[in-house]
Amino acid sequence: MIKINENFLKLQAGYLFPEIARRVNTFKDQNPQADVIKLGIGDVTKPLVPAIVKAMKSAVDDMGTAQGFHGYGPEQGYGFLVEKILECDYKPRGVSLDKSEIFISDGSKCDTGNLQEIFGIDNVVAVQDPVYPVYVDTNVMAGRTGQASKDGKYEGIVYMPCTAENGFAPELPSEQVDMIYLCYPNNPTGSVAEKATLKKWVDFAKENKALILYDAAYEAFIQDDSIPHSIYEIEGADEVAIEFRSFSKSAGFTGVRCAFTVVPHKLKAYKKSSGEAVEVNPIWNRRHCTKFNGVSYVTQKGAEAAYSPEGQKQIKEVIQYYMNNASVIRDALSSLGYSVYGGENAPYVWLSTKDGMSSWEFFDLLLEKAHLVGTPGAGFGAAGEGYFRLSAFNELDTVKEAMDRIAKIS
Ligand code: MLT
Repeated sequence: MIKINENFLKLQAGYLFPEIARRVNTFKDQNPQADVIKLGIGDVTKPLVPAIVKAMKSAVDDMGTAQGFHGYGPEQGYGFLVEKILECDYKPRGVSLDKSEIFISDGSKCDTGNLQEIFGIDNVVAVQDPVYPVYVDTNVMAGRTGQASKDGKYEGIVYMPCTAENGFAPELPSEQVDMIYLCYPNNPTGSVAEKATLKKWVDFAKENKALILYDAAYEAFIQDDSIPHSIYEIEGADEVAIEFRSFSKSAGFTGVRCAFTVVPHKLKAYKKSSGEAVEVNPIWNRRHCTKFNGVSYVTQKGAEAAYSPEGQKQIKEVIQYYMNNASVIRDALSSLGYSVYGGENAPYVWLSTKDGMSSWEFFDLLLEKAHLVGTPGAGFGAAGEGYFRLSAFNELDTVKEAMDRIAKIS
């Protein structure tokens, strides 16, 4: 008899974004004339920039020649891309990493979801609440939790509330936690962490021999230069943190797929039986080589081009375009009397619903009356109840139209 992995049965309903898409499709079936605007899932709308397109086309041409053809590449990524990452992402921020600490992959969703599997099942997981659902769901799948309670919280996970009251900055947990997921700039609240905040977490992780899984997928959107782009800007973070970066939002790669994860050599985990320290990097390398065959040459050539002078100029223009959208959303909502957060160093604007409306009630109201799709805060966790997320990824005119529609129903 084939047995199911019952951990999967603990998962609630569908994954958030397909669930929203399902509701939107039902609405569209019933209202075929409705012109629905989507500011829900954080999917980019601008095309790839010319420097990247050119590099990818040229890489396709390489692939059509005997000399330029590439079969399986290194599982960890091509040296040409890894070198650019070290030189352009880390060196200017005072961070020195070794090539062997970078692992190119096909996305941060996969990396943040997969990384947990090299750590023991009895580690206690701590997450910011609201939270990007992948961190929680993949730990549920792995069996690191009990069942979910009514408010959607899983037994065994330490939820660290991030609300307007604490400035969306979670308190340090009072219990022993072992795997701490932090996301900055934050999805979904758009909040950022200053150096002092990150130092507090690094110190905490060191004291507790815990690991920080640091998701920096939105670092390219940071406008304030005093905000760290990498957790490794904090001294000693390389002893306790793994960092995730992505080209999805920074270079428009949501449909191309390229990201990377940093696993420093100094990072250790411990054997439960003896307490002996084990280097994490070779273990992740082993896992990565076993389960992953690398990102395509064409894709990595495209990612490399994002670091060329033209590529940098072009992708920065696109980022500024989205950040202008974010400020249009912030201004419009503020003038309508909503409490608005985020959107200054992140492509997400987080708002409080009015009149005690729940997140899903507000979702339904916007969909039915304004034909506008956003993401209900409660979909990201219990502490997201009463909040709502709007993404800045769209055309400016569409964003303005969306704001006009909210004004009409507010
Ligand atoms: C989001 O909307 O939160 C993002 O699209 C999530 C993701 O990048 O997977």
